[in-house]
Amino acid sequence: MLEKLAALKQSFESDLAQARSGRQLSLLRDRYLGRKGGRLTLMMKGLKSVAVDDRKEVGRSLNQLKARIETAIETARQRIESESTRQESAGITLDVTLPGKRRALGHLHPLTRVRRDIEEIFYSIGYSVADGPEIETTYYNFEALNIPEDHPARDQGDTFYLSENLLLRTHTSPVQIRTMKRLRPPLRIICPGTVYRRDNPDATHSPVFQQIEGLAVDEHLTFRDFKGTMEYFLKAFFSEGTRVRFRPSYFGFTEPSAEVDISCTFCAGSRCRVCKQTGWIEVLGAGMVDPEVFRHVGIDSERHIGFAFGAGIERFAMIKYGVDNIQNFYQNDLRFLRQF
Ligand code: DAH
Repeated sequence: MLEKLAALKQSFESDLAQARSGRQLSLLRDRYLGRKGGRLTLMMKGLKSVAVDDRKEVGRSLNQLKARIETAIETARQRIESESTRQESAGITLDVTLPGKRRALGHLHPLTRVRRDIEEIFYSIGYSVADGPEIETTYYNFEALNIPEDHPARDQGDTFYLSENLLLRTHTSPVQIRTMKRLRPPLRIICPGTVYRRDNPDATHSPVFQQIEGLAVDEHLTFRDFKGTMEYFLKAFFSEGTRVRFRPSYFGFTEPSAEVDISCTFCAGSRCRVCKQTGWIEVLGAGMVDPEVFRHVGIDSERHIGFAFGAGIERFAMIKYGVDNIQNFYQNDLRFLRQF
């Protein structure tokens, strides 16, 4: 029995020398001291069959070995634990001086930003935001805006009709009509919103895009107020050095009508590929509200003067940020969006 004990002690010592982790130590403890199958436990149970004379000595040796195993495992456990803390603080698994991992902050979509920038400019000069439906009637989208029955914009090929009288609005101008029917002058509003046209998507067209409409109606407005407001807006949005030019144009709902250009932001007017060698870029349509429009909404055109404009938000964003393909705004490619 004593010899068997000596052999067991040796086998424990060599097992112990190989244990590297807390888990291995637990398994080791089970193997020798486990309540059911532990090797030493079994020997202790066999003590009864040892001759009475030897029992005392054998019993003492068994207890000594048990104590030895327990302290050896405990000591080894402490050593392993302090070793791993030491490694951690030495930076082997955790270096507290390393820079943290930064999470990228999200931000507004460039079109949202441009829309809000434009809104801010108009808020600052007393305008408020008005809203209208994307599904419109032909009355609000065309008729009340003095767009004649045979105008090409009314064509099936240009407009998404839902029925004979319902369509997806092709511009934000119907919000002018809705607002003037709802509120009396003086009025100063802008209406940002989504509009729809049957255009094939390419670098400058999209069947769904955003516009922002503006309308001012008051008693003593003049063409100079109109020009001044457009200039103030465009300089505030693009840059103070931007030059603004008005070209005569035609819209059913304004008279006179103008197309408004800014000096090319890419070459500052000295002619380049972007401005097609003209030095100017067209940015919006505008004009003085046609009396015929006032008649539809019941505003006295003898007393009231109005001016209005409509601009494409994508177009403003493309010019401001130098984006040459409108499709970039819709594809949600993070490599594009992260640049803003
Ligand atoms: N609705 C026009 C368009 O979509 C833009 C426009 C031109 C709006 C002149 C206006 C305006 O309010 O006065 O092309």
